[in-house]
Amino acid sequence: MTGTILESAWGKINLSLDVTGKLKNGYHALRSVMQSVSLCDEAEVTVSDGTGRTEVRTDWKYLPEGVDNLAGKAAVAFREEAGLPEMDVRVVLKKRIPVCAGMGGGSSDAAAVLRALNRLCGTGFSAEEMCRIAARVGSDVPYCVSGGTALAEGRGEILTLLAPLPDCGIVLCKPRFGVSTPELFQRLDGKRVLCRPDTDGLLSALETGSLMETAVRAFNVFEDVLGSEKQEILSIKSILYDAGAMGAAMTGTGPTVFGLFRDTAAAEAAARILRPKYRDVFSVVPVPSERIL
Ligand code: C5P
Repeated sequence: MTGTILESAWGKINLSLDVTGKLKNGYHALRSVMQSVSLCDEAEVTVSDGTGRTEVRTDWKYLPEGVDNLAGKAAVAFREEAGLPEMDVRVVLKKRIPVCAGMGGGSSDAAAVLRALNRLCGTGFSAEEMCRIAARVGSDVPYCVSGGTALAEGRGEILTLLAPLPDCGIVLCKPRFGVSTPELFQRLDGKRVLCRPDTDGLLSALETGSLMETAVRAFNVFEDVLGSEKQEILSIKSILYDAGAMGAAMTGTGPTVFGLFRDTAAAEAAARILRPKYRDVFSVVPVPSERIL
């Protein structure tokens, strides 16, 4: 068996992110409304008969290669589940989604590899089977396999597809500092969470197709446990609101902040204000699940 597929790996934002408890396996119970956006990496995935080798190359020199990269882990998990131990997999990643940004770049690359392999190998794994394989790779990978607008619960692997986010413009702005995901989860453990997202209100707003009602409910519990970094997140949010954002929040465990705008022209105007100060600023649009899986 030989073949190559070029697959897009879409970035994501968490329109809302709540941590509702701790699971028996040590992970945290999440309740998050997630949305794919039009900023993507490209994964070139090649399979050939061989000895079960996994090769991952990227154009970003600081990223791990081979099975230390989530894309490589995805290839290993897929090979095992598909019963194809001798298949060689080569992945070449063109990175555009900033790394360690809260935009699910690594998870999205892994999900793209799973989708590409399912097609290349003709395995015909269903969405549920793909979700189970993806959960072996990482908590955000199941969502990234199908993307679109979805509610993620449990560790992140219990997914409910939602009515799509209405057409809008989205600005992404990544400040330069980094945050550690495990550390932020730990900080939440030691803190009583006083403010939570109105997830049910957000679900109703999506159901009625109201961008304004959806946008005003953008909220992330992790913003509350940021230390000295919080000031910069607030400052970016304030620039976004001044530029007309209908809602703004940090995505994932950060540090990227997103703002929702009524259209792409308004988003582009806001992005222009941020660009002189920040290197990673993107004006994007929502991507529906039909374009992904
Ligand atoms: O699953 P993944 O490897 O992406 O998770 C990275 C880290 O994030 C975990 O090691 C854990 O510390 C934290 N995490 C968590 N609960 C989740 C997802 C992630 O505690 N639901």
